[in-house]
Amino acid sequence: SARYFSTVTRTLIFWASVSHSCGSDLRFPSWFKFGAASAAYQVEGAWNVSDKGESKWDRLTHRYSEMFANGSNGDDACNSYYLWERDIEMAAELGLQFYRFSISWPRLLPTGFANNISEDGKSYYNNLIDGLLEKGIEPIVTIYHWDMPQMFQDLGGWANPKISDWFAEYARVVYSLYGDRVKNWITINEPLVECDWYYGQGILTPERDRFVGPYICNKNLLLAHAKAYHVYDQEFRNDYNGKLSIANNLLWLNPYSDSEDYQELTETSRLFMTGRYTHPIFSKEGGWPSAVEEAVAKVSKEQGYRDTRLPPFTQEEIELIRGTFDYFAMNYYTSRMVRRPRPSEEIVKSAFSYIADLDAVLDIDPSWPFGHSKIMPIYPEGMREQMLWVTQQYGDIEILITENGYSTIGSDLNDDARISYIQDHLEQVILSIEEGVNVTGYTYWTIMDNFEWADGYNSKFGLYEVDFSVPERTRTPRKSAEYYAQVIKKRSL
Ligand code: NOJ
Repeated sequence: SARYFSTVTRTLIFWASVSHSCGSDLRFPSWFKFGAASAAYQVEGAWNVSDKGESKWDRLTHRYSEMFANGSNGDDACNSYYLWERDIEMAAELGLQFYRFSISWPRLLPTGFANNISEDGKSYYNNLIDGLLEKGIEPIVTIYHWDMPQMFQDLGGWANPKISDWFAEYARVVYSLYGDRVKNWITINEPLVECDWYYGQGILTPERDRFVGPYICNKNLLLAHAKAYHVYDQEFRNDYNGKLSIANNLLWLNPYSDSEDYQELTETSRLFMTGRYTHPIFSKEGGWPSAVEEAVAKVSKEQGYRDTRLPPFTQEEIELIRGTFDYFAMNYYTSRMVRRPRPSEEIVKSAFSYIADLDAVLDIDPSWPFGHSKIMPIYPEGMREQMLWVTQQYGDIEILITENGYSTIGSDLNDDARISYIQDHLEQVILSIEEGVNVTGYTYWTIMDNFEWADGYNSKFGLYEVDFSVPERTRTPRKSAEYYAQVIKKRSL
């Protein structure tokens, strides 16, 4: 709801923005950090090199190639498995303070299980981590960015209750191999996409249960995160003193109109889209947000189920999950307006446009400009509003923006639109800091063009352009790379 957004805050924001537009220097505090990100399946390639196991993304892209733009896949991607030295060089050219990348579970553990560690997998990540540290760049490591070992996927993946233990064992291996040098861990990337899209949409999951799957995945994934957190806490924190979070993507939501009904629907939708993944971890009381519990129970009953489709937590599970964070990792790209369906409206039932269990339509404000992506209209203020919401919900928590980025279709080296996107979002970061939000860093997605899931290589988010037509996968800085490097160097906009 807009409740927290008091007149006082609005006035403050207004004056802050006026003084900014009058040309005052937009400086970042000395402790603020800048980085860029990538993910294993999207950049590494070498999908079957050495003893690497098959991931669910290898299987999906091979078996259902028609679902991917031009039938493409991540078999070779950016060839970062071979070109990691160039990747480090790029991070250094940009002047990044940190580089966020992910570890491929089946590359490190070919069978998925912890008793069989790949020597080649192990040294690949050792090289990457050591190389970054030599250049003074901090590695921020995502333990899981969607590439589940296919063997576990065959057993149900996130729907299998054993997955949380398998994941925690994998995490233990990762901490023990790299925890002496990696001090910032993200257990899982974008659980909403992993569960609600993967299990719920039918996109990318032809053979899965679309109805209860997302909620079971939601619960097991939270347990996996929590168990991995406790492994660190109990066995590694003393020696290594790092910090952990889980990276949630927040599709920021505002009410379509100021009516009370829409304000309430919007708040429930926020709790549904975000709170289902954050509330159990970050709220004081833990467990599902009660508004979501009530809504799903009600709709399940209407559908003739004996019980709610949202699997309940035991008290023990609530305690296990609650408080398993050291900061809040947040990916932000875009926003939506929430309303009820219109009479006889034809509803597009995709995760970005409709919440079935709330019967809430996620609409796009006609005033928001678009880049090339029709699902990502640009609303930079949403990033700040989102951080205020997080702070309002969970208190004065440290927030790290772990992704924010802009895509184009053609490969234009003069990417002024990307520069504006970054600048507008960074302006919101400065405003947030002035408003007292404890945001400590910004990560651009992504360091270079890569395999953008269903969009394949069509959709380009990179600061560096990658030439996918040559085996060298030549990387060339775009204008935005120079811009970002300047921002980092000057520490101001
Ligand atoms: C979120 C995901 O974490 C990343 O893998 C993806 O490429 C970007 N958003 C852009 O869609």
